[in-house]
Amino acid sequence: MLTHPASKYRPFAPIALHDRTWPSQTLTRPPIWLSTDLRDGNQALIEPMTVQRKLKLFKLLVELGFKEIEVAFPSASETDFEFVRHLISQQLIPDGVTVQVLTPAREALIRRTFESLRGARRAIVHLYNATSPVFRRMVFGLDRVGTIELAASSARLFNELAAEQPQTDWRFQYSPETFTATELDFAKDICDAVLDIWQPTPECKAIINLPATVEVSTPNGFADQVEWMHRHLTRRDCVVLSVHPHNDRGCGIAAAELAQMAGADRVEGCLFGNGERTGNVDLVTLALNLYTQGVHPGLDFSDINTVARIVEDCTQLPIHPRHPYVGDLVFTAFSGSHQDAIKKGFAVQAPDGIWEVPYLPLDPADVGRTYESVIRVNSQSGKGGMAFLLERDYGLALPRRMQIEFSRVVQQVMDAHGTELSSADLWALFEREYLQASEPLVYRSHHLEETENQGQTIAVSLTLFDRPISIHGCGNGPIAAFLDGLGLGLCVHHYEERSLAQGNDASAIAIVEMGAEILATAVHGAGIHANIVTASLVAIVSAVNRAISGHPALGNVLAEKWGIKPIVLQNP
Ligand code: KIV
Ligand code: ZN
Repeated sequence: MLTHPASKYRPFAPIALHDRTWPSQTLTRPPIWLSTDLRDGNQALIEPMTVQRKLKLFKLLVELGFKEIEVAFPSASETDFEFVRHLISQQLIPDGVTVQVLTPAREALIRRTFESLRGARRAIVHLYNATSPVFRRMVFGLDRVGTIELAASSARLFNELAAEQPQTDWRFQYSPETFTATELDFAKDICDAVLDIWQPTPECKAIINLPATVEVSTPNGFADQVEWMHRHLTRRDCVVLSVHPHNDRGCGIAAAELAQMAGADRVEGCLFGNGERTGNVDLVTLALNLYTQGVHPGLDFSDINTVARIVEDCTQLPIHPRHPYVGDLVFTAFSGSHQDAIKKGFAVQAPDGIWEVPYLPLDPADVGRTYESVIRVNSQSGKGGMAFLLERDYGLALPRRMQIEFSRVVQQVMDAHGTELSSADLWALFEREYLQASEPLVYRSHHLEETENQGQTIAVSLTLFDRPISIHGCGNGPIAAFLDGLGLGLCVHHYEERSLAQGNDASAIAIVEMGAEILATAVHGAGIHANIVTASLVAIVSAVNRAISGHPALGNVLAEKWGIKPIVLQNP
């Protein structure tokens, strides 16, 4: 790269429009949408679409709600010519949809273009020639007058050829190609010259389309250019003012939005931003940006995944996983703090209320995405993500302190393997950590009896290090009675039970948080059983075993207490 890029690159000259109005506008209605997927998008493909692929995409565009579709550049390729003929001869253009075709300002090509449209009920014919000084000088060798004459003679030919096919309802469009690099006074002169020939009326407007053929400025620069044209075009009331942003600086969306604030009525672009180089402006993002501001775009992306797969199939280009609104990862949070906030947001989000889930500008359900992928767990995730997945997929709501405890287990696995964990992986880890913590103390059976003073006595059969043990205890409930029988000075800080969403639907899970003097920190245990008392006892056994594995002395205390040869356990 150059040390002084100014020696090579010229900055965009600011537009003298000091009373610009666009900065204080807001977008309250959708523009007229023009999809150019089948023309500009198609021209940019490594392999242009076949007629079959074009048909598939055309059908999709119609289903999405596009009323104006640029379907071809008929003079440029036989496939495009054939495609237009096919649409017309097979009557595939629904009422209410107008097809548009592009032609350069060259007589033979204009004639061929009108030929392709023979028999059409309605059509927009789109004329373009490049207008910037570089093109005038370097490509065409024409001065301003010559460039205007090229556009004007083509416009006159439009009038003639249209008159030869009076059964078609014609509309005309003119684009000063390379508009963003064209002097504004000249852009106005050439557009006015074309409009003088076409003589549009407020009832039968012409379309003036301002292309950012190459994006050359910050979006405010484009907005200034559009507002200037909007205010200076002579027959503004007879014109649909259209913009056609490309995305060379990555600002196509912003440019299109500011251009509408600056007076544009119509936007040309492609689904997911396909198009030459960095693409045409992405109409899906534009539409859903409006939607998330509470404005219906008039296009339907309720099943955005299907749209994406069809577009990928037709263009043979993949959509980036982080592409706004559609990418595979855009409704996914890996970071723990994000997951936590999203989880809390979902918990309080009213089904018909204003959408307020943090980090999600759009309800994934509105575009047919599920919440499946919203929260995924990797090494960046904290307790919130894994708690969300376990609750969503297994009905397992972990108490907060247990989330903290279990997240350490999850983190260890993450740090060791570095891969993402699915909810099934998390459940398997939970099983291993809590439900299979069934050694060295093993629950066998129990017998519970009520006492006269409203207490309970319990007899529990266990094994410790494979040696059978029977213990007896009493208390005001089975848990207290069991702890009494264990005689380890254990107390329950927290206990909860609930039914489980998956597996045996009669199952309940009991979760205990236990403490004891011998333990430095509280420890959790969990047990699943159809009988809730059994589930509670198993949960206590699970906690004891987890405590023993962290504090081997506890195992020895138990073993000694029950006359079993102490076994020295190693810290895991
Ligand atoms: O980008 C462009 O300038 C075009 C024109 C033909 C409208 O595609
Ligand atoms: Zn273009």
